[in-house]
Amino acid sequence: MLSKKVEDILNVQVDKEGYSSHLYLSMAVWAETEGLGGIADWFYAQAEEERMHMMKLVRYINERDGKAKIIAIEEPPVEFGSVREMFDKVLEHEKFVTASINDIVQACIDENDHTTNNWIQWFVTEQIEEEAAVKALIDKLKLVGEHNMYMFDRDIMGMRGGGAASAE
Ligand code: FEO
Repeated sequence: MLSKKVEDILNVQVDKEGYSSHLYLSMAVWAETEGLGGIADWFYAQAEEERMHMMKLVRYINERDGKAKIIAIEEPPVEFGSVREMFDKVLEHEKFVTASINDIVQACIDENDHTTNNWIQWFVTEQIEEEAAVKALIDKLKLVGEHNMYMFDRDIMGMRGGGAASAE
């Protein structure tokens, strides 16, 4: 049985993961319409993964006698300026998600909920991997520069390593 505090904060996370999925879907659309099919595929896969994170939370909340809340998801931006700006935004967003996962861990500690604390550790590890994967892509972008998007776009799926970037 979840405490009200833990149930509420997990439901906030359901919304954040849903937004992440929408954000990355919007980025996929932007990349695809800019002729960057490789980058688009990376973001389509990423959007699926975020939906999986959301579903994981939904199922856990219900399984523990709580009730998952499905609410309207905020509309994501549609313009991203450049590939580099877009990936900087991804990193910033993932750091925001990491902070909210840490808040869940803290809520579990406050509520003495060892079960959820144990369960949420999967997300803690996932966030380390997601941030690292995005940082690696930004490093690569710095190397190839904005003028060689062809190469980056061609290679990006091959750079899907562990964590966020790999299919769960
Ligand atoms: Fe589900 Fe990218 O955090």
